[in-house]
Amino acid sequence: MEQFRRSAILAKEAGFDGVELHAANGYLFEQFLLDGTNHRTDSYGGPIENRARFLFDTLDAVVSVWGANMVAVRLSASGTYGTMSDSDPHATFQCVAERLNNYELAYLHVIEPRVRGIVDIGEQNSAVSSADVRRWFNGVLMVAGGYTAETAERVVANGGADLVAFGRLFISNPDLPERLRNGVPLATYDRSTFYCGDARGYTDYPSHGELKAA
Ligand SMILES: Cc1cc2nc3c(=O)[nH]c(=O)nc-3n(C[C@H](O)[C@H](O)[C@H](O)COP(=O)(O)O)c2cc1C
Repeated sequence: MEQFRRSAILAKEAGFDGVELHAANGYLFEQFLLDGTNHRTDSYGGPIENRARFLFDTLDAVVSVWGANMVAVRLSASGTYGTMSDSDPHATFQCVAERLNNYELAYLHVIEPRVRGIVDIGEQNSAVSSADVRRWFNGVLMVAGGYTAETAERVVANGGADLVAFGRLFISNPDLPERLRNGVPLATYDRSTFYCGDARGYTDYPSHGELKAA
């Protein structure tokens, strides 16, 4: 927790606008939150109040540096990345989301159950969706996972979310907001270049303007 607090200070000194606590996709916070991985018998294990202690104590530490309105939390409320699992994800994430109402966070960021990491896995009926989180959480909600221009517009228009994050499409479209705004066709990404360890496939996609100039 002290390392997160220290990192929050360093992020501020480095000039970032805010910080997002990454409690999704099998990372450390999620390993504490879900009972499939958290087998502790101390005050950090057992009931969800205990399993969430690490996240909330760290959140308090980071908020003490930034103020809550510059801090966000990211959750993958279906949590099946790698070997992640929970015996009752609805109860787990309802508890977490409702408790986050006590903070006026910049936003809560949830990953839709149709995406596991960077792989589309289709809709999961039993999974916790952003619609569930919307019912539990009163603040600004950001959603991510398999959104297109059309579905992003729709989810914001119908009140399902306030913000939409894009991952893969942002890689192949460095000017993604401009393209979405102007209805410019989107370039497809090359999955084989993900996680390759160099710039290829990350920073070498042209913007629409560069394509037209070429
Ligand atoms: C190359 C690449 C690397 C990613 N790395 C991470 C990561 O380190 N941690 C994480 O939680 N999500 C990671 N993601 C997942 C994205 O944050 C996002 O949740 C996911 O791509 C779904 O959004 P999308 O459908 O708009 O791509 C990564 C995605 C891509 C394409």
